[in-house]
Amino acid sequence: MNKICIKGPSKLIGDIKISGSKNSVLPILILSLFLDGEVIIKNVPNIFDVNIVIKLLIYIGSKIEYSNSTYYINNKFINTSSIPYEFASKIRASIWIIAPLLYRFNCVNTFFPGGCSIGLRPIDLHIYALKKLGVLFELNNNIISAKINGSFFGSIINLNKISVGATITSISAAILAEGTTIIKNSSKEPEVIDVINFLNMLGANIIGAGTNEIKVIGKKKLNNIGKSYYIPFDRIETGTFLIAAAISRGNITCENVKFDRLKIVLNKLKNTGASINVGNDFINLNMNSKRPKSVSLYTFPYPGFPTDMQPQFSILNSIGTGSSYIIENIFENRFTHVNELISMGANIIIKNNKIIFYGVNNLFGSIIEAKDLRSSISLVLAGSIAIGETIINNINYINRGYENIFSKLKSIGLNFKLFFD
Ligand code: UD1
Repeated sequence: MNKICIKGPSKLIGDIKISGSKNSVLPILILSLFLDGEVIIKNVPNIFDVNIVIKLLIYIGSKIEYSNSTYYINNKFINTSSIPYEFASKIRASIWIIAPLLYRFNCVNTFFPGGCSIGLRPIDLHIYALKKLGVLFELNNNIISAKINGSFFGSIINLNKISVGATITSISAAILAEGTTIIKNSSKEPEVIDVINFLNMLGANIIGAGTNEIKVIGKKKLNNIGKSYYIPFDRIETGTFLIAAAISRGNITCENVKFDRLKIVLNKLKNTGASINVGNDFINLNMNSKRPKSVSLYTFPYPGFPTDMQPQFSILNSIGTGSSYIIENIFENRFTHVNELISMGANIIIKNNKIIFYGVNNLFGSIIEAKDLRSSISLVLAGSIAIGETIINNINYINRGYENIFSKLKSIGLNFKLFFD
């Protein structure tokens, strides 16, 4: 499938069971490689990026079984630390394989990681952190060769920018290092907390999850036998469906979620005029058939506003009452949805890293193109409220991060057809 044709506008109404978090499960699957024995990972979303990681694990020797969103992974027979280009280059998450394979083999050969083209996405902080812990690198074109001298060594890692990925790299290489590691200016994202909880479950000693300084006391070995880890819900999928309700003047309940990971997103959604009702394991957003007010925001590391929700709020601000702005502080090239929105009738201007919105009453169907994961879902949201027919090319990106997305969208009333190559 590479194209979706949406007939709008629709009012989106219904209940959605939110899947496990993409950004938690990817590092957790990869870091299971620190164990020799079996580990069980539950509530794993069936998405493209997970499928690539699973294929990569199988390629290097993992024995993997799957049933009911649960992976049973046995890493006893890992037999190579050379990662082919076809795996490394497809996903950003492939960078996390360096530390566990160094632990096992003392040397690793891989390639620069891939992922969505939303900015430069350098890996200098990952390399810096690993070097501090004793890793020696040779970097040629996009080939990475890394080795250690028998072990990682604890150190002080001072990240000059808050990075989810580099925080995870630093923690993972430190858990089995000789001595203690302090990671300064670490990421507080919930997905990093999930990774820490997982590694601590395996026997690591990591202190300071959710703060800007993490301490890792190196262990000799991890000792998990048959324990299981449940991947918490995906906060970005949750926010995306709440936006779907807000822009379509609808009413959607997200199930299997906790509101505390979405505080700033919910505050912004409240400012649109939506009624929000939260319970122990659900969040409901009812727009009461009203047009939302647009809201200004800037993206920032957690607990700031997530960059992964910026394109979705761009749709809201395009049709919200009043004018507003969004400042993108995390990635340089995360505006690929903007020209597509303009072709649908939005009144938007980009100035450097700022998008300025003058809300219009309606968007109109157009032929547009998705260029990355979050822009693809956002353009689908735009199509849901546009008058007439919206055709979105390259819609496959959506499968990188949204499980069963088309059946979920159908269940809340989106009127669409998929076209296959
Ligand atoms: C992760 C998420 C992504 C999310 C992002 C920010 C995964 C698989 N992806 O990406 O969905 O949008 O966090 O919340 O978990 N940086 C450097 N050098 C580095 C690493 C990062 O300069 O070595 C910069 C980046 O270019 C960016 C900022 O740091 O400007 C934050 O990036 P980071 O948090 O590392 O994002 P990712 O881990 O790639």
